[in-house]
Amino acid sequence: MTTRTHYAGYINKNLLNTTVTVCGWVNRIRNHGKIIFINLRDRSGTVQIVINEEQQKLFALAGTIHNEYVLAVAGQVQERPEGLINAEMATGEIEITAQTMEILAKSDPLPFNLDEYHEANDELRLKYRYLDLRRKEVSEKLLFRSRVVKKVRDYLDNLGFIEVETPLLTKTTPEGARDFLVPSRNFPNHFYALPQSPQIFKQLLMVGGLDRYYQIVRCFRDEDLRADRQPEFTQIDVEASFISEQDIIAIHETLLRELFHELLAIELPQPFPQLTFQEAMARYGSDKPDLRIPLELKDVGDLLRCCGFSLFETSGNDSQQRIAALCFPGGSALTRKQLDDYAKLGIEHGLKGISTIKVNNRSQGKDGLQSSLLKFLSADILEALLARVNAHDGDLIFIAADNVAMVNQALGALRLKLGQDHNLYSSNWQPLWVTNFPMFNKTKDGFTFMHHPFTSPTTIDPREVISNPMNIMARAYDIVLNGIELGGGSMRISNYAMQLAVFQVMGIDETMAQQQFSHLLAALRYGYPPEGGIALGLDRLVMLMTGAKSIREVIAFPKTQTGICPLTQAPSTVIATQLSELQIQSTANAFEVK
Ligand code: AMO
Repeated sequence: MTTRTHYAGYINKNLLNTTVTVCGWVNRIRNHGKIIFINLRDRSGTVQIVINEEQQKLFALAGTIHNEYVLAVAGQVQERPEGLINAEMATGEIEITAQTMEILAKSDPLPFNLDEYHEANDELRLKYRYLDLRRKEVSEKLLFRSRVVKKVRDYLDNLGFIEVETPLLTKTTPEGARDFLVPSRNFPNHFYALPQSPQIFKQLLMVGGLDRYYQIVRCFRDEDLRADRQPEFTQIDVEASFISEQDIIAIHETLLRELFHELLAIELPQPFPQLTFQEAMARYGSDKPDLRIPLELKDVGDLLRCCGFSLFETSGNDSQQRIAALCFPGGSALTRKQLDDYAKLGIEHGLKGISTIKVNNRSQGKDGLQSSLLKFLSADILEALLARVNAHDGDLIFIAADNVAMVNQALGALRLKLGQDHNLYSSNWQPLWVTNFPMFNKTKDGFTFMHHPFTSPTTIDPREVISNPMNIMARAYDIVLNGIELGGGSMRISNYAMQLAVFQVMGIDETMAQQQFSHLLAALRYGYPPEGGIALGLDRLVMLMTGAKSIREVIAFPKTQTGICPLTQAPSTVIATQLSELQIQSTANAFEVK
């Protein structure tokens, strides 16, 4: 085979009159009778090859070529004749006059046209993902991802972090999702779990004295999928000893700033803002608020609880409930249909309804307002309410009352929807650290962890954790970018009694804890250093940096929203002998698809 000398996309005027060899796929052929143009593509871009009828043998060969044939073409780089320059193309000023051409592989017509890929559905494109990867928009995301990973490695190496691989066949590490289990042939009825994260291993590396660890690591979580969730995904996983949360925050903030600066020429703020969990929930109804949207929730329970409207009276006088208002500037121009849709959004999040006040003319007092609530509210209360939300003429105020979580969720979602629908974004990039998370969540079955059970509480007294779990705060922090949770981490429990106390709150007694986590509990007895860490979602980071809509676009071979790989047809049934070797018998009908 002829040896390639250059990538197609990098050929430019500096190479005029030199002979180059390019290899790639036929992107397009234009046969003008006396001259044939072949657009040849490789991962760097495309270049135009010209073959004239005088080159009889080559011309005849070119006539047999179809799209997606693989060619090696040697020829001279020439300037394109004036008028034929293509300013849209990186190589648009030059073309290659072919001297030799070799067909390296033929191709059947593709199952979908690469130029009209959007006409093919996602599943078809994933089934033939290797064809979809030939499109520049797809491959350039993977090239970009590779550059991100390289920069992350260089950055962490420079700070003395060492990359260590941790096992994939392991024991469950609770991170809030279900495990993917792997049966073991030698130990019937025993299973490995694929790691939801290397959490315990990285902690044990600190006990082992490795001091600063990182890993670009695959994690597995069997959970409901969304645009920013895949069953297997990659973390930039970091852990360090003898370090504080502010050190970890500073290291990762600088990492993100450098990545954005060097790869995108974007300057992220310095420092990133920080909000406590409490403040984020109160002001934005979310622990991962999109700060590009300037709207804020305001508590108005103190103003509305005595107004005579029973919903407000109940919610305003119950500490588990919240009455909050969201002012949408210019919102009084919304149509009835738009208002109904926003009210529906509230109902989808569990509210019975959302009240609204239209501010037509503030100087006219009550007469300048429009709302079904007016009959309950005095002019003074209304004035105080308008002042609280800083309403102006033409604004619309949404008011929701219910239990705190529901109001936060509903108004938080409404805030995002208003931002999207009306393009309220005040900037392109808004990073944020959220800190001071509560340690536990209360569920109907008891307490569960908010980050993971190895997160250190702020108190050093295990008795306090047991006696008053809902008042315990965690030394945890999340990094949020444009409303997407990019990463999370914490300082870890480095004390045996504290670890047991946290398990106890979660309903795991010492015997159960020893069964599940004896490896960690033992390590806690043998000189456990103060330490902490964080993990950033690499897929989410690259999705944000490339402007992709889903992490599927930045993963070479992703799964669908239902967790299927259309390319390999995984998950699939296995042959009976595989199951019998594992001593596994299924109770499900293999053909029954849930
Ligand atoms: P956490 O569970 O917050 O923390 O995960 C860290 C980051 O990983 C990404 N992520 C995902 N990305 C794609 N698909 C998923 N299903 C998925 N789940 C999580 C997110 C998330 O912020 N061991 C701790 C970290 C630590 O404490 O050091 C952990 O895994 O971007």
